[in-house]
Amino acid sequence: MKSLIAYYTRTGNTRQIAQLIAKKLNSDLDEIVDTKKRSGIFGFLKAGYEATMKKTTQIKEINKKPGEYDFIILGTPNWNKRMTPALRTYILKFKDVFNQMAIFCSAGGRGVQNFLESVEQLCDKKAVAVMVILDEDDKELVETKIDKFIQEINESSH
Ligand SMILES: Cc1cc2nc3c(=O)[nH]c(=O)nc-3n(C[C@H](O)[C@H](O)[C@H](O)COP(=O)(O)O)c2cc1C
Repeated sequence: MKSLIAYYTRTGNTRQIAQLIAKKLNSDLDEIVDTKKRSGIFGFLKAGYEATMKKTTQIKEINKKPGEYDFIILGTPNWNKRMTPALRTYILKFKDVFNQMAIFCSAGGRGVQNFLESVEQLCDKKAVAVMVILDEDDKELVETKIDKFIQEINESSH
């Protein structure tokens, strides 16, 4: 099974998770890069506002073609209980070529459930596996969650 992990990250948590999954599942990785400045207090406030308003953004050119993969795994931090503008933009651009799909997010811990459902809705597709990694999770728990996530993905592709 050929799989691609497409993820956005602002401070690196989602990238770390993406890399761990990629190692275990032998997936390709593609980071979605937002061209907007998201650092500093104004960057932070604007990020939350734009996520709440369901805004899209300008993303850098995407290198890997999601339609060439059997499986797409989408990763994003949770911003104001919503997906990030960068992931929203990616989904709107490419959802028509997604095959099977799974979703993971990194989060402080608030408003995760509705948010995952909204990703499925935007993709017009049910995820075969979803995973939430909280900032407070220790290494062991992260490993356990990732192993379960990968098992669900593998089972769905047989
Ligand atoms: C603008 C903004 C809004 C956020 N809102 C939420 C939230 O509503 N719920 C939550 O659980 N975490 C929230 N967080 C925390 C991030 O989801 C969390 O720290 C995540 O691990 C960051 O991932 P990253 O390092 O890949 O950017 C928010 C973070 C930012 C920057």
